[in-house]
Amino acid sequence: MDEPTLSARASQGKTLFEANCATCHGERGAGTEKGPPLIHDFYNPGHHADAAFFAAAKFGVRQHHWHFGNMPPQPQVSEGELAAIVQYIREVQVANGITFRPHRM
Ligand code: HEC
Repeated sequence: MDEPTLSARASQGKTLFEANCATCHGERGAGTEKGPPLIHDFYNPGHHADAAFFAAAKFGVRQHHWHFGNMPPQPQVSEGELAAIVQYIREVQVANGITFRPHRM
C-alpha cells in the first residue's frame, strides 16, 4: 500500500484513523482479520461516497460486503474528525489507483 505525501488535513485524518479505525481497517486502511481494507475498489467514491463514511461512524454497518461481522458505531469520532479521516482515505486511495467509478447495480 503506497502512502502519498499527505495534505495537512489528511495527516490529521491519519492520526485519527489510526486511533479509531485502524484496529479493524488496518494501517493505511489495508485491512486486518477484524475488518476490510478501505483502500479497495469497493470503496471508490463512486460506490461509497463520503456520506457512507459519516453514516458508518454514526450508525455502524451491517455486514454485507464481507464476513467480518457488523461494524459497531464510532460515536467518539466527531463529524469534523471524520471529514479529515475521509480526506486521508481518499488521498491514499488515489495514490493506489482507486478513483471514481460510477456504480452500476
Ligand atoms: C470493530 C471493527 C471496526 C472499527 C473500529 C471500524 N470499522 Fe469500519 N467496518 C468494519 C467492518 C467489519 C466493515 C464491513 C461491513 C461489511 O460490508 O460487511 C466496515 C465497513 C466500513 C465502511 C463501509 C460502509 C458501507 O457503507 O459499506 C466504512 C466507510 C468504514 N467501515 C469506515 C470506518 C471508519 C471511518 C472507522 C473509524 C472511525 C471505522 N470504520 C472503524 C469494522 C470496523
